[in-house]
This record gives sequence, C-alpha cells and structure tokens, in this order.
Amino acid sequence: MNIPAYHEDMSSLHVGALAPHAYFIPHSSREGALSGRRGQSDRMTSLNGTWHFGFYEGLRALPEDIFCDAAVPDTLPVPSVWQNHGYDIQQYTNVRYPIPYDPPHVPAANPCGLYRRSFARPEGEGRFILCFEGADSCLHVWVNGQYAGFSQVSHSPSEFDVTDLLRSGQNELTVLVMKWCFGTYLEDQDKLRTSGLFRDVYLLRRDAACLNDLRVRTPLNEDLTSARVEAELKGIDGIGAEYWLLDGEGKELARGTARDRISIPVDRPRLWNAEDPYLYTLLLRCGGEWITQQVGFREIHINNGVVFLNGRPIKFKGVNRHDSDPVLGPAVGEEQMIRDLRLMKEHNINAIRTSHYPNAPEFLNLCDRYGFYVIAEADLECHGVVTRFGSYDEKEYNLIADDSAFGPAILDRVQRSVKRDINHACVVIWSMGNESGMGVNLDEALKWAKGFDPTRLTHYERASFPPEGRGINGPDLDLYSRMYPSIKEIDEYFEKGEIRKPYVLCEYSHAMGNGPGDLEDYFRCFHRHEGHCGGFIWEWCDHAVRRGTDASGRIIYGYGGDFGEYPHDGNFCMDGLVYPDRRPHTGLKEYKNVIRPARVEEVRPGTVRIWNTLDFTSLKDAVEISCEIRQNGQAVHAWKLDEDLLDIAPHERREISLPLPKDLCGEYALHFAMYSRNDSALVPAGTLLGEDETGRQTYAPPADRPAAPASALRIQQDDWTVTVTGKGFRYIYNKETACFDSLVREGRELLMQPMQMNIWRAPTDNDQYVRPVWEANAYRHAASRGYETLTEQKDGCCMLRTKFAVTAPFVPPIVKGTVQWAVSAGGSIRLSMQARRRENAPVLPRLGWRMFLPADIRAFSYFGFGPLESYMDKHRSSFRYLYRSDVDANHEDYIKPQENGSHYDCCFLQAGPLQVTGDSFSFSISPYTQEELTDKRHNYELHPSGFTVLCLDAAMGGIGSNSCGPALDPKYAVPGHIDFSAELTIA
Ligand code: GAL
Ligand code: MG
Repeated sequence: MNIPAYHEDMSSLHVGALAPHAYFIPHSSREGALSGRRGQSDRMTSLNGTWHFGFYEGLRALPEDIFCDAAVPDTLPVPSVWQNHGYDIQQYTNVRYPIPYDPPHVPAANPCGLYRRSFARPEGEGRFILCFEGADSCLHVWVNGQYAGFSQVSHSPSEFDVTDLLRSGQNELTVLVMKWCFGTYLEDQDKLRTSGLFRDVYLLRRDAACLNDLRVRTPLNEDLTSARVEAELKGIDGIGAEYWLLDGEGKELARGTARDRISIPVDRPRLWNAEDPYLYTLLLRCGGEWITQQVGFREIHINNGVVFLNGRPIKFKGVNRHDSDPVLGPAVGEEQMIRDLRLMKEHNINAIRTSHYPNAPEFLNLCDRYGFYVIAEADLECHGVVTRFGSYDEKEYNLIADDSAFGPAILDRVQRSVKRDINHACVVIWSMGNESGMGVNLDEALKWAKGFDPTRLTHYERASFPPEGRGINGPDLDLYSRMYPSIKEIDEYFEKGEIRKPYVLCEYSHAMGNGPGDLEDYFRCFHRHEGHCGGFIWEWCDHAVRRGTDASGRIIYGYGGDFGEYPHDGNFCMDGLVYPDRRPHTGLKEYKNVIRPARVEEVRPGTVRIWNTLDFTSLKDAVEISCEIRQNGQAVHAWKLDEDLLDIAPHERREISLPLPKDLCGEYALHFAMYSRNDSALVPAGTLLGEDETGRQTYAPPADRPAAPASALRIQQDDWTVTVTGKGFRYIYNKETACFDSLVREGRELLMQPMQMNIWRAPTDNDQYVRPVWEANAYRHAASRGYETLTEQKDGCCMLRTKFAVTAPFVPPIVKGTVQWAVSAGGSIRLSMQARRRENAPVLPRLGWRMFLPADIRAFSYFGFGPLESYMDKHRSSFRYLYRSDVDANHEDYIKPQENGSHYDCCFLQAGPLQVTGDSFSFSISPYTQEELTDKRHNYELHPSGFTVLCLDAAMGGIGSNSCGPALDPKYAVPGHIDFSAELTIA
C-alpha cells in the first residue's frame, strides 16, 4: 500500500480536511438543542467504542492490503492512547525531542496504529462530516477503501466531508495514525508522549446547505448597562435563519429571522464572570438544524497597564492544566474534566491555562458554565530546539520561530485554536503556544490573532525575551508574561516601569513534590501591584501511569525512566497540585487558603478588618464566617458573624468589632472559618473555603502527672559517658556525641538506638539543586561530636555541658556550638543549645536531634502548625492548635519519596512517654528514616524502619519552589546561628 508521505511534508499539513471553524453540534429539534447535551442529537453518530486495531513498528511493517481483516488483528478502545493498552512504550521527556532533530523528517521506523470499524450510514439526507477531535500525531482516513484525507495538529479537530464516500447500509472506516510527523517538532510539550485517537470520533449529519461557521460577539456599552448579541452566520445564504435569545432561566428575550447576521439589543444584561457565570442562550434554526450557543456577556480590556474584566480589575487565581489521567492518559472524558473543575472550585481557583494545547471542545463549554477564566493555548511548543546540541542553549531558541518554512504550520495551529473556541465567554486570553522561541512566525501569529479577535487579550511568554524590536514591544501582544521569576524581579518590573503592559505569571510556584513554599509571598506581590493580574501555578496534576498494585495493595505509579525509554526526564512530570488520582497535595490546600475569599487581620484587640478578595461578589453573598476564640488548644467561645457585617463590596475592607467576652484574658487566637453561603453548580453551600487567624495562643499541657518527688541524683562518669540515675530513671549521656545513648524510665528504654544530632533531610524535589551541594559537603554523613563535657550538680540538677561540632567526612566542622542538658531530680531534661554554622558551609537542610523510638509508639499529639505538614514558608492552611495524629497518617506519601510531614512552630509534643515543650520547634515523626526516603524512587518501595523515627528540630529549612522556580528565599533558610531551648520529659 502506498501511503502518501504527507507526514514529512511541510506543505501538506492537511489534505482533504475541512477548514477550522467554531465548534457546535447541530440537532434536529429545538428540545434537543436546548438540552445542551450533544449526546441528545440525532445528527451526531458517535463512533467511539471498540475498534479493530493493528499496531506496527513502522510503515514498512504494514501489510500490503491494509483493508484486509488480518491487518487489524487486535482491538482498542476509542478514544484512548495505545501506550496505555500495552502497545509501544511510554515515554516521558520534557525539553528534549523524543526523535532526532531532523525536520521535516521523522524516524523511518515510525510506530503506527491501524484502526478499523464499520458503522451504518445514518438515516437521512445531507452532508456527512467525520470528526476526530484529537489524533496524536496525525492521521490518514479511508472510507470504504477510498482515501478521505490527511490531517495533523494533535489537539485540534480533524474533519472530513465523507458524503460522497458513504454508501447505504454498512460502511467501513479505516484510519492510520502515526506516532511521529512533521508536527512533532511543534508539539514538544512537557508530558508523557502518547499516540492514537485520543478524543471523540463521530459523524455529523448536516443539511446540504448549513451553517458552516458561527461568530458571536457581545459588545457592551461603556457603563455595561446595555449590550448586543451580534452573530455572524456563514454558509446559510440561501436558507437564512430563525433565532431566539433566551436568558439563563430559559425565558425568551428576543426572536427574529436573519440572512447571515444577527444583532439583538439586550438591556441591563446580567454579566458573566467566574464568580457568577451567568449564561444566555442563542438558539438558531437554519433549515432543519437547531443549534445553540451559550452566550456570556463580558468584556476584557487593558487600561493604563491594568487588566479589567467587566470594568473591574481582576486577578487570576489560576492553574495550568494538562489533560492527564493515570489510567486514561490524555484521553479524559467529561467525568474527569468535571472532577477537575469541581476540585478547582472547591479550592478557590478561578482560572485555567490550557497548557499547552487546546483541550477537548466540550471543556470550554464546562468552563463557560461553571465559571473559569481561560487562557486558551495553541497546540505549539518547540522547546527541544534548545537542546538539539545536547546541553541547554538559549541561543538556539528562535530556530523554528524565525524559520519561515515553519510559518504556515505555526499560523495554522494558532488559527485552529482561536477559530474553534471563538464563541466562549470563558476564553479571555489567546495564547500563541509555549516555549517556542520568538521570531517572525510568532509575530505573524500574534498579528493574526489580534486582528481576528480584538475583543480578547493576546499572550505569549517567550515574547518577553524578544530579539530586537519584536515581541513584547509589539502592538499585537497585550500582556507581559513570565514564568518562574523571583518576586524581586516582579517588583523591579513595576519599579522600572519601562514596559507598561500588565504582568501575568503564566507559570509560577512549581508544585513539584513537597511544595510550593512561596504562595503567600506571590499573592502579596500580585496585590502590591495593580498592574499584576495574577498567575497560573505549574501545574494542576501529577502525570503518571498507573501500572497496577504491588503485593500489599499499594498502587504502582510509573514516571519517566520506568518504561525503559530514552531520553527521559524522571519524575519531572510529577509536579502537580494533586496526585494522579486527584487526591489533593498539601500544596493545593496551601493554595486554597492563600486565595481564600476573605482575609481577616487584627486592627486592635476586639476589632478586625475583613478584606473581600473576590472581584465581583459582595462577601455577604459569598460566605458565612464563623469565629472561635481559641485558648490553650481549645475553643472557648464560638459564634457566627452577622450577615450584615459581611456587606463588604469586592476588593473592599471593613473594620468590625467582635463581641469578645468581657472576662477574656491571657493569650488567645481568633479563628475564622469561611463557608460557601449558597449552592453553586459544583460546590454546595457550607463548603469550607478558607480559614484565617489572628493573635497567637500558647499551650501549657495539663500537669497530669504528679511532680516526681525530688530525690538525690546519682552521677557516674567514665571517659566516654555520664550515667545519671534518679528515682525511676537512668539516662546514659554520650560525651562523644553530645547526645543520650539511653533514656530508661520505669524500666523502659525510649531510645532504640543512640540519639544523634541531625542535619540531613530527604531532599525534596525543590531541594534538587542544593542537594548536590549538600552531598558534595557530605551533609548526609554528618554526625555530632563532643569535645569536652563539663558535668556538675547544681540546684539539684545534673548539668551536662558539651562543646560540640557537627562533622562529616573530609570537611571541616559544619556546625560548632555548645549544648547543655540539665537533668532534674525528677528526670526531666532541659535542653539548650547555641550553634553556629561555618561561614562558608552551605545552608543546612535542618538542625536537630534524631531519636529512634520503639515502633509501638504510633499515636502522638502536638501543639503547633497542623494538621497538614507545615514549614516556615508553607503553613497557610495550617494553624497553631492542638492536634492528634499517628505516624502513618502523618506520612505524606509523595510518589517520589522525600522529606514530608514536618510541623512548624510547635510548643508541645507528646509521643508515647516522651513529652517535649519549648517556645518554638519543628518536628517530624515517621515510620521511615530519612535515608529510606532519600534513596527510594517510588513510594511503593518504602520499607518502614521498625522504629518510630522522631526528628526534633531546632530549625527546619523552608520549602520554596526551586524545582523550576527561584532559589529558596534566604529568609526561609535555616539560620546560620541558632539559639534553642526545649524541655524533654519522659513519663
Ligand atoms: C516550563 C514549561 C512547562 C513545564 C515546566 C516544568 O518551562 O512551560 O511546560 O515544562 O516548565 O515543569
Ligand atoms: Mg517546555
């Protein structure tokens, strides 16, 4: 069989395929159209389901007769990607192209899938359009053995008019999908590379003369009090149209007839925004077809460097979202999409960038309906040019962008994205694509997009690094977009004021593993600058492949390198706010609370200021707020804020006084919990949307044990140890480590191994760039070493004072200091330490003590930032309170194991017989050692240590988002000088 080599031909992007146009599905009845469900349409014949399938290593392996039964010996579901069904291998690569850089050629051995199914020609006359909503990377189509055409651009629809190829009765559809094509050079998105018919396939029956394209605009007058629905109808010259405009409740507002243009005035329109996604419906009847288009009235513009939506400055609280599922891969259906959108709403997210390609067309309908601002991105990324000579070279970036041979293909991709989704209220920004350099081709794309649709904003991040005179300064680009700048850089942009375009972060706070730790700082930065319109976290979900379960039932998720592929980028695809199965990471909870609908701050005792951070809704319509006075780890008083007090306009602040009890004294915190007031489409009333707290409570544990009768201490000493014996206890102090080797109370040993000082933590993904520095300095092998110990008995206590260092092989002492352990006659131990890091030693992961407690100590309670894992820079959804947990529940099970489960700013910890109190310490407690968490690549490989490993930390480093973002802000690093004290008691 001779298959035309269009897949390597830059001038044959689409052959026999229809031109791109706005997405809509025709129905034969008014009711069908108004149902809003395309599945109701008798004009749509789904071709999803089980297809016959044959997988081939390359074109050469295809049988001579591709139409014979033997050519498709297997079956495969459509939609799906074949890698998720056992064919070919999975590959995760980020920047580097998976194929040799040799455009327009692709490997001769180009894996391909041959698909076949039969279907009955639907009843009725007219034209038949065959639609593939997504095919990765390109497809050839035959109907009844006759060639229909070829198309590419994986994430945009490919459509063919097959009217003349159909016959009555059964028809046979054959599709050849190739893994690589010329378009592969333009689809170098950071994701698992998968292939096949991964979106819906269907046949539409259209009238012979029918609406080919539809363009709806909603111009509003200056003060937004009146609007028009303007529609342009293509292809119906001969037949004309009847139209109706309905409001959100289905009430008819207007009707009429038109030839090819509609203009309907609407007085006092209810505007669309993400907080109130109110939609009207434009219903059209063209001949025998009924078509609906959801219409949202909203406008977006820039004034003086600020983005306004419906006349109000807005901030995007966004995420980047890939189509990704651990079982389905990119072939996600409506159920998965709605699950994502619901989770986003529950977490206060209001915006989505469809990184880095158009999502399925129905996704935009959902965003219209549920209320999300969308940056709609074209299917374009050619990042791999920068690594074509191996190492990353920015100078190569513009290779494709500036090569006119790629011009038509790049423009085609942008046009397909814009034209398909042109009628969606949710789309507020067109993005030309991602990481494809800057050059003539992008200039052209921007120019076309701005010209075609001046009603929306244009975005292209790489334009912020323009070759001379292009890009960001050009008139066709509206936004200054960046990814992963430091906050300092953003502040400087506004200080310098050279570029007066609104600033958007198309990506920030890389959410990989334990993190991000900088969300609050970015939030404040966005609000410092009116011209900052917010940002989109990278990224929504971890990408991984569910490969089954192990013997003990743990899920085995695979990421880069698990499939034997080359090249691969390891776990860099696991950088989302949710696990592959959508369980939220602690980072998502952190984000949720940073972008909570309201913020409360104390003005003076009894008076707080509430800031409504919403853009359009009065706080009283959005939330109910309940308050609690928390004292010593307990709610001592609770009430609900009066609705009237929440009459706070969007962006406004209001001071309110609180009915605090007269006799309230001592330290207390005021805790506020905000719940959604009303049901919305995705989030029921009463859902917790945020929490806030003012003040600071301390905690004194109940003195439930009688003070041990003071009795004399017995102190025995040799060259290496000091043994302190009192009534009911015997402690052995090791002068060589400045720590205890044994703590026995009532005959029970607490330390299963000698205590050690500890500076290591299992590197987080965000530690990956400091990790080599830590390792080069042997931090992992560090241990404490005592020099001289002074032992004295004073005030009935045994004081052990040791000069110590933390040392590691081949490096000079990393930390030096003095530690004092004062053992009281009752057996409690007062610990104080002063320590200083060597000036030129790298910042420490942590500094503290590690204890291996008996494994039967599982439950623990603490007072500090919880209940989520919390760090110096990541505790915005945690509050200082009294919590109970256990070692298993406290383990945050990152798929790539790493430091987790720490608690910041604690003043109390009880684990079994051990109690720790102090002003402020961190701790973590786990069945796993940090070495185990350091060395294992997957969570299912973890083995519990057989102990309960307690790390008591005088300081624990912050988290940051350095896996792709800026280095950890020094203010969140373990300080170079530490002065610490705590008290340990053992029952
Ligand atoms: C950005 C890129 C994303 C992703 C991210 C790292 O540079 O736009 O697609 O690769 O880095 O996770
Ligand atoms: Mg990239």
